[in-house]
Amino acid sequence: MPDVAQLAQQLAGADPRAIVDRALADYGADCAISFSGAEDVLLIEYAKHTGRPFRVFSLDTGRLHGETYRFFAAVEAHYGLRIEYCFPDAGAVERLVRAKGLFSFYQDGHQECCGVRKVEPLRRQLSGLRAWITGQRRDQSPTRGAVPVVQIDPAFTGIGGGQLTKFNPLAEVSSADVWGAIRAFGVPFNPLHERGFVSIGCDPCTRAVLPGQHEREGRWWWEEETKKECGLHIGNLR
Ligand code: ADX
Ligand code: SF4
Repeated sequence: MPDVAQLAQQLAGADPRAIVDRALADYGADCAISFSGAEDVLLIEYAKHTGRPFRVFSLDTGRLHGETYRFFAAVEAHYGLRIEYCFPDAGAVERLVRAKGLFSFYQDGHQECCGVRKVEPLRRQLSGLRAWITGQRRDQSPTRGAVPVVQIDPAFTGIGGGQLTKFNPLAEVSSADVWGAIRAFGVPFNPLHERGFVSIGCDPCTRAVLPGQHEREGRWWWEEETKKECGLHIGNLR
């Protein structure tokens, strides 16, 4: 088991490609990229550059944009891979929407729906891994200003309830540099980005932002800025 504290020291300030390479080298098939269907597609491009085999999973909440589903298929075709889709528990979704309707999050907050549609499926997926790779960046949100490039996951466990290593190779990269790399490498991207969407999540909870608005203002816009973590990265709030 690699020493994560030591690794964090070694990788601070490292090129994001070197961080992806290190994650795949150390954890192999026990590691997977968590792909949301947004600009984190760059992680897949970088994984391809390493020449190592790699896994990609996506949480299909059932509420993503049509564009995002088509983009997933385009990414599979472009990189010659199959995304491991993770679905919510059907019974839990039924109970929620039969009791509260399809848009309860506008009334009582997104935590309950995200809990069912994102967090529980993520917990299940992570329970089969020892490490995961995310596209979190410090400039994405006030809640992410201190995200390290690698950490022991503060919220989830891995195989057998053991320690889970969380790699955030883009933590220190700016949005502008991510987009510079996407263009430079000819990486396919979600067409919603051409329509004013910067951050992309579920359809009912994401909207385009105006020039100069922060990307996070397009997510759960009816809620307070400092609470905008859906549970995938809840450790950021601690
Ligand atoms: S969220 O927690 O607010 O939804 P955000 O959209 O900023 O997260 O994405 C940050 C990172 O979380 C992504 O780069 C990705 O690694 C992971 N992530 C977010 N949504 C998903 C998803 N639906 N499927 C897989 N990974 C996701
Ligand atoms: Fe539900 Fe919205 Fe969370 Fe998606 S982002 S799981 S629709 S509350």
